[in-house]
Amino acid sequence: MRYGFFDDQQREYVIQRPDTPLPWINYLGMENYFGLISNTAGGYSFYQDARLRRLTRYRYNNVPLDMGGRYIYLRDDADGTYWSPTWMPTRDDLAEYTCRHGMGYTRIGSAYHDIRADICYFVPLGETLEIWDLTLENQSPSSRSLSVFSSVEFCLWEAVDDATNFQRNLNIGEVEVEGSVIYHKTEYRERRNHFAYFACSEPLAGYETQREAFLGPYRGWENPLAVEMGECSNSLRVGWSPVGVHHIRISLMPGEKQRVIFLLGYHENPTAEKFYTRGTQTLNKRTVAPIINSYLQSGVVDQTFCDLRNVWDDLLGGLQVESPNEHVNRMVNIWNAYQTMVTFNLSRSASYFESGIGRGMGFRDSNQDLLGFVHMVPERARQRILDLAATQLKNGGAYHQYQPLTKRGNDAVGGNFNDDPAWLVLSAAAYLKETADWGILDELVPYENQPGTETRLLEHLERCIQYILDRIGPHGLPLMGRADWNDCLNLNTFSATPGESFQTTTNRDGRVAESVVIGALFTLAAHELAQITAIIGQDEKSMRLQGLADGMAATVRRFGWDGTWFLRAYDHFGNPVGSKSCEEGKIFIEPQGLCVMAGIGIKESLAEKALKSVERHLATDHGILLLQPPYQSYHLHLGEISSYPPGYKENASVFCHTNPWVMIAEAILGHGEQALDYYLRINPSKREVMSDLHRCEPYVYAQMIAGKDADHFGEAKNSWLTGTASWNYVAITQWILGIRPDYQGLRLEPVIPLDWDGYRAVRKFRGVTYEIEVRRIGSGNQVSISVDGEAVQGSIIPETGNDHVKVVAALE
Ligand code: GLC
Ligand code: GLC
Repeated sequence: MRYGFFDDQQREYVIQRPDTPLPWINYLGMENYFGLISNTAGGYSFYQDARLRRLTRYRYNNVPLDMGGRYIYLRDDADGTYWSPTWMPTRDDLAEYTCRHGMGYTRIGSAYHDIRADICYFVPLGETLEIWDLTLENQSPSSRSLSVFSSVEFCLWEAVDDATNFQRNLNIGEVEVEGSVIYHKTEYRERRNHFAYFACSEPLAGYETQREAFLGPYRGWENPLAVEMGECSNSLRVGWSPVGVHHIRISLMPGEKQRVIFLLGYHENPTAEKFYTRGTQTLNKRTVAPIINSYLQSGVVDQTFCDLRNVWDDLLGGLQVESPNEHVNRMVNIWNAYQTMVTFNLSRSASYFESGIGRGMGFRDSNQDLLGFVHMVPERARQRILDLAATQLKNGGAYHQYQPLTKRGNDAVGGNFNDDPAWLVLSAAAYLKETADWGILDELVPYENQPGTETRLLEHLERCIQYILDRIGPHGLPLMGRADWNDCLNLNTFSATPGESFQTTTNRDGRVAESVVIGALFTLAAHELAQITAIIGQDEKSMRLQGLADGMAATVRRFGWDGTWFLRAYDHFGNPVGSKSCEEGKIFIEPQGLCVMAGIGIKESLAEKALKSVERHLATDHGILLLQPPYQSYHLHLGEISSYPPGYKENASVFCHTNPWVMIAEAILGHGEQALDYYLRINPSKREVMSDLHRCEPYVYAQMIAGKDADHFGEAKNSWLTGTASWNYVAITQWILGIRPDYQGLRLEPVIPLDWDGYRAVRKFRGVTYEIEVRRIGSGNQVSISVDGEAVQGSIIPETGNDHVKVVAALE
């Protein structure tokens, strides 16, 4: 069953009923100011860092009840009826309801009691504010008097402290009201120089700044006393829970429309100019006033909304395809690309499954996210690589996470994930392939953000390789450390203490447990760096690196092969993990995909066998399982992976992030049919028809889909912030469609199914627009390319000097 439909023309998903299985969300903002917004206007906003600069509150552990948001209440002043035009929080039976989630905006429209309301929420480019653009229309034959109430609940900035430190917090809340603007300025009197504001384009009939005054004692957001009475008390007290509520009165003739604009924003003042005049505590509004005044004008709002749409035309214009499959087209052209941008911005910090108070930016995660968006915003990718490298340790290792606001590594969430460094090499390689900006290798970057420690980026990458080489185990495979890509395979943790963090506990010395996955990643990364150093003329280095890659590949073939698939690891006792000799967890997906991607065992036909085993033991209708059979009980020597009930998360769910590795591996072996089939099994748009089973948004990937051993086989969780986004984008665009940036230029090597007669695409690459047409003329993957009518050798499109090039590829 569906809850809406895709409007591909508008690049929107249109939700037609408010009670979706879970809140279906979208993101506002893509620079410094961000908001999460659900299809019923739930969610919250923050500046840069969801934990450290939270603007508004949200209620945790509530799903699907989605409480805390950007709520508007309408009240018919003739009879006192009131409702929320976004359904939440009053949940009235609206006569009409639609929510359109688009690229960086959400528009919710509804009708009730013959009043149409339409609210468009978005963040204008370059600003640290969000706009709520409300239009009301009287659809009844008589004139109407309405009250409109807006509401937000302010967070006292640091979201963890806000949710826990009541003894202090209930005393410190401070606001100021001037004209139609409510300023939230808690802690501004002391060390903060930032504040929030909530402005309205209309004169106020009243306002509230105290939650209890607005809601009334022992009442909730579904029936605020002030709304029920149609009157605010103009509360202005220190402490308790500051809110922003505007009350305005509007009269509408039959058929008349009125627009009301609300702004919620964040602003900083220079420390010396915090106050209006020296000695007062009154906020200095000189620099914020022009911003507020400008965005309260409807012409400015229209223009900036238009600008936002145009930016997305540009961003998505980097690659557009027309293939025979609508789910491919829709995800590649719109939603998958959009999701990679969101994961780039937020890593794993803030979604409806990530609280915004836990995880910062993952080192591994951010490097992988980059793979999917580097072609959209190469300059920002460049900066991200340099930021990540600046958190690197001198020994080449990495902090597993860093805080976006400070860009500093964060020890509290653990370190020693021995795969982390490999990902920096892979993201830098992807950046170089896209841009050929070789100068980035010469950028001076510090270690652990310590001034004075700078070396060239190239050396950072070499240290990544060295870090792994310095940690080799008994079979010559890389040591696992805390964990590799699979955060939950904790072979040195041995934790028997409830609540102890699997991410930070190590009870064994870690000198035995080895990872085949890091072996594959090392092979990939050393091979990339070998190519990079060859291109910049460092031949000796390059040969050494290629030798290291080949050596590791040989070790994996020798000690990482189990007969019909690749092993996963060796545990602390030197016993295999992911082997036919194990009772549970006999086969894992990660090494099958990654080893083939690294080219390991292709010649020796191990790759073919490994992928056959994946098909036989792991593939299901809902995607490919992470492992089989699942762990039925907790195993001290395996760690968190066995803490999950069978079929969930790393314990044998369809962990969607890993599926594209197998798609890519299939494409590498030339199996277009199989690659696309796997792709479609987890494609959200394809799964839209089963929304009541899938439950998460049908327009973005989720981290996991419950596996066949779970109670809810096919139910997705952890949507939005997942490496699944970028990896699926890479799999479909670079390996199946086969439009793949390489150091020497754009490569075109499609591996598409037999029943596709071809496809068309437009790809912008290094300043050139390539208009690509692929035609199937035979049944294989052999490609012959012509550029502007001239046949060329090989699969790399040569530069012609023109900035618009027509490429035809015949597949035989
Ligand atoms: C989560 C993490 C990612 C990790 C994966 C597997 O998605 O964000 O870093 O690789 O889980 O454990
Ligand atoms: C848990 C999750 C895993 C995630 C990790 C990050 O272990 O199962 O998916 O990567 O937390 O901290």
